[in-house]
Amino acid sequence: MKSLLLPPHPKERRIVFKNAWTQGYTPDIECYLKDGGYEELRKALAMKPAEIIDEVKKSNLRGRGGAAFPCGVKWGFIRHDDGKPHYITCNGDESEPGTFKDRYILNNDPHQLIEGMAIAAFALNVHLAYIYIRCEFTKSAGIVTKAIEEAKAKGFLGKNILGTGFDLEIYVHQGAGAYICGEETSLIESIEGKRPYPRIKPPYFPAVLGLYMSPTIVNNVETLCHVKQIFKLGSEEYSKMGTPGDGGTRVMCVSGDVMRPGPYEIPVGGVTLGELINDVCGGMKPGRKLKAIIPGGSSSKVMRAGEVYKMKVKGPDGEMIEKDVPLLDITMDAASLAAAGTMIGSAGVIVMDDSRSMLWALNNLNTFYAHESCGQCTPCREGVLWIDKMTTRMVNGEGIAQDPITLKNVADNIAGRTVCAFGEAASWPVQSFLEKFPEEFAVGAK
Ligand SMILES: Cc1cc2nc3c(=O)[nH]c(=O)nc-3n(C[C@H](O)[C@H](O)[C@H](O)COP(=O)(O)O)c2cc1C
Repeated sequence: MKSLLLPPHPKERRIVFKNAWTQGYTPDIECYLKDGGYEELRKALAMKPAEIIDEVKKSNLRGRGGAAFPCGVKWGFIRHDDGKPHYITCNGDESEPGTFKDRYILNNDPHQLIEGMAIAAFALNVHLAYIYIRCEFTKSAGIVTKAIEEAKAKGFLGKNILGTGFDLEIYVHQGAGAYICGEETSLIESIEGKRPYPRIKPPYFPAVLGLYMSPTIVNNVETLCHVKQIFKLGSEEYSKMGTPGDGGTRVMCVSGDVMRPGPYEIPVGGVTLGELINDVCGGMKPGRKLKAIIPGGSSSKVMRAGEVYKMKVKGPDGEMIEKDVPLLDITMDAASLAAAGTMIGSAGVIVMDDSRSMLWALNNLNTFYAHESCGQCTPCREGVLWIDKMTTRMVNGEGIAQDPITLKNVADNIAGRTVCAFGEAASWPVQSFLEKFPEEFAVGAK
């Protein structure tokens, strides 16, 4: 089988994306079975649920949807003594700008996801699970629905799975097309057939009061595929691929002004931003220089070329020391990007060169967030619209001297004042663009 794309770069290790990128590989179950599919489910069904959760904890898998929360720890929050049904909802909303990984799994390798979900379901005593697929992915919804039927016909889903007495039904739920439905509590509201207004946390942490007010695990598509891979490789080998506390590989979606944009699956912390851009992605376009990087989807704070970050890193004797780390030497893992004041988020790396106007880029994001605010919280509903109106006016050359100050003020009064993290997602770009590129927002600047 030949790869559709370039062969894996030496820095890559394709495990979750192994088949999603293979020519001749189809989403049919026969293809999956030929590649050893559902063997890990067989292994897991012979284990005790608590042992499975323990393996996932030991793997150091962190969620790939945005918050990078340790997956095994989240699974550990589910109470097993309250008599309520438990649910899993797989988050296939994939609406964070700059992110394009889950769709390839849904379209090309759906059985990997189903197997990961079935393992998770057995571990968490779940008998009903949902795959939430964004409205625009109609093709994916059809492919995944067919894959569920195939898995059921072969005894990997449905009643008495592989003769073990374990029952699991998985249903596809298609969204109606809203970014907010990727936020886990909105996703739950949407599955319940309601308007997807996020729920407030506490008390509505999904693991405690989730779908139908019952314990629910929401995991991203890629995260659940990693669950299968943990059982294929063993938690020890899996965790070794990453950094301490952040195991395995991650699909990094690189877009923007690089020679070879695309999704690259790389061990966590296995590349610096410089290696990712200049080596894996073939560098910047001819004659162009790096200007900015948004490292984790459009909600993450922008980083400016040439910046040096004061970061706490492990010293030679294991103690934490402060060090100056240039932007391109920062490694792609959750802890390093957090230490640099931004986040790995969905690992959607947007690269901008010196031809880009930061005002234009921010306005583009603001228009997106203004369109997508669900409207439940006043600061967000009103604030993101004001922000968008202001930057649109500035792009049109009608800005006033006060605009950058007002923009910051409005953004500062959205973040932290809303029910869900959409408020931060919309404010962080404004705050960071203004802080990192003030000269481009001064009125009269181009
Ligand atoms: C506004 C907003 C949009 C989000 N969109 C997505 C999304 O499209 N896909 C996703 O997996 N997580 C998204 N998340 C994160 C989810 O709320 C949740 O943390 C994630 O699905 C948990 O899965 P994980 O632990 O496997 O990462 C979003 C969060 C926010 C605040």
